[in-house]
Amino acid sequence: MNLDEAQRLVAAVPHWHHTFEILPGLVTPGSYDPRFLLDALGLPADLSGQRVLDIGPSDGFFSLAAQRRGASVVAVDYRSKEAHGFGAMEKITGATFDYHCANVYDLSAATLGTFDHVLFLGVLYHLPDMMKALAIVRSLCHGTMYLESHAANDLPSEHALARYHRHDALAGDITNFWSPNAACIRDMAGDCAFDLITDKTWGDRYFGRFAVSNEPARKRKLQLGYGLCP
Ligand SMILES: C[S@@+](CC[C@H](N)C(=O)[O-])C[C@H]1O[C@@H](n2cnc3c(N)ncnc32)[C@H](O)[C@@H]1O
Repeated sequence: MNLDEAQRLVAAVPHWHHTFEILPGLVTPGSYDPRFLLDALGLPADLSGQRVLDIGPSDGFFSLAAQRRGASVVAVDYRSKEAHGFGAMEKITGATFDYHCANVYDLSAATLGTFDHVLFLGVLYHLPDMMKALAIVRSLCHGTMYLESHAANDLPSEHALARYHRHDALAGDITNFWSPNAACIRDMAGDCAFDLITDKTWGDRYFGRFAVSNEPARKRKLQLGYGLCP
């Protein structure tokens, strides 16, 4: 695609979240540069033959990065491809994805299968029921889960705490529900049968890398909580 056509497609997108060089010499006008997080993820350089699930991909920076490393990528967002830059990204780069316009609460391994890597980046705090979402994410993952979130790093770190945001109290955005602290994210993920590999906080953000646990006892609390038979 030539630069003029690509510029026209970029300009037609109502709102860009990611800023990145989508084509040599063409940078998308988002407010968030995600390159530091891609580095922090520590994804293998070669993802050939591996399945990656990108939950809440927005404009698709991470989906594209994973596909360029050889992964088979499934992307799921409750907004359509055209409501953000994902559709334009596909047209401009020539990359195509298995994109599902769906809510995270409606995902299941029965329809999507399970994944080696699940990217759960910038989504947790948009979800009213964090535990249910993490349980669903666990059911879709047989390898590594990467979780990045807005976080209440100002709350006491020795207790698992979360701050609820009434209406649009966080950033004037009604899609924001919770800001958990790091201890809360670790405990919720742990009770969803994820083992922490490494994590860190900065400003009002959190990032953690988790491996799945297959110990039946680790799933017991969730099975009771959601009324699932063991
Ligand atoms: C802050 S953006 C994060 C984008 C990208 N993952 C990143 O980290 O840069 C949150 C994304 O999650 C999507 N999202 C929020 N709630 C969702 C839900 N319940 N089901 C599916 N997608 C959701 C939004 O549409 C948006 O694309």
